[in-house]
Amino acid sequence: MAVVPLAHREAGAGTPLVLLHAFPLSSAMWLEQRELLGSRCRVITPDQRGFGGSELGADEPSLGACADDVIALLDGLGLDRVVLGGLSMGGYVAMELLRRAPERVSALLLADTKASADPPEAREGRMRTAEAVERDGTGPLAETMLPLLLGATTLETRAAVAGRVRGLVAAAPPAAVAWASRAMAARPDSFDVLRATEVPALVVVGDEDALSPVAQAQEMVDALPQGRLAVVPGAGHLSAVEDPPAFAAAVRAFLADLA
Ligand code: MLT
Repeated sequence: MAVVPLAHREAGAGTPLVLLHAFPLSSAMWLEQRELLGSRCRVITPDQRGFGGSELGADEPSLGACADDVIALLDGLGLDRVVLGGLSMGGYVAMELLRRAPERVSALLLADTKASADPPEAREGRMRTAEAVERDGTGPLAETMLPLLLGATTLETRAAVAGRVRGLVAAAPPAAVAWASRAMAARPDSFDVLRATEVPALVVVGDEDALSPVAQAQEMVDALPQGRLAVVPGAGHLSAVEDPPAFAAAVRAFLADLA
């Protein structure tokens, strides 16, 4: 496997906090978190391979390759240990990184994600998504994904958020979307990784998250030896984008306790 150099955006100084984005978005989704958390720590938000400013590379689809890219980014930045965070697909990549290099993680933030592998029908759905995107581009995907990514409250009351997320999905390169779909389909169950995670961990979830519901967040908390849960009311799967201040408040409280 060949590491892909990751484009990334940064804000702030101090404790490094790496935030890995959801599918099929980019580091642009962390705009508000860079602003809100940048006064508290050094927020580093990479574009995962194929998305934003990062090349896709030529490897077979696997989230392990994405985790290796992040490890290489940390090496390049001279960072031995970071607070590692990821939302949804970003969480899957964070768990892969933990599997490979737990010594690089001083604390863990998992948002709107799950530790289980996909059941067969979900895996088949991802394969169909990959083929559809290669055939039709990402425009139709934006329409089907929006009601899954956003909670009912956002869909009803936050038109600007919905417009922005629609634009981010439509801007994703089809080849990257197809690759990431196949990579997510191949991911393993990660409960073993969580059970072995000795560092403090925060699990954040929107209470309207239909893709990774609160019950799955609670399962991760139960598996983590030092896990705690924060629920963002009135937010769906993209809790950090739907209610940025509430998400940032949960992270700030977690970081304050680490200090
Ligand atoms: C994401 O938001 O990253 C995706 O919805 C994750 C998934 O499809 O499992």
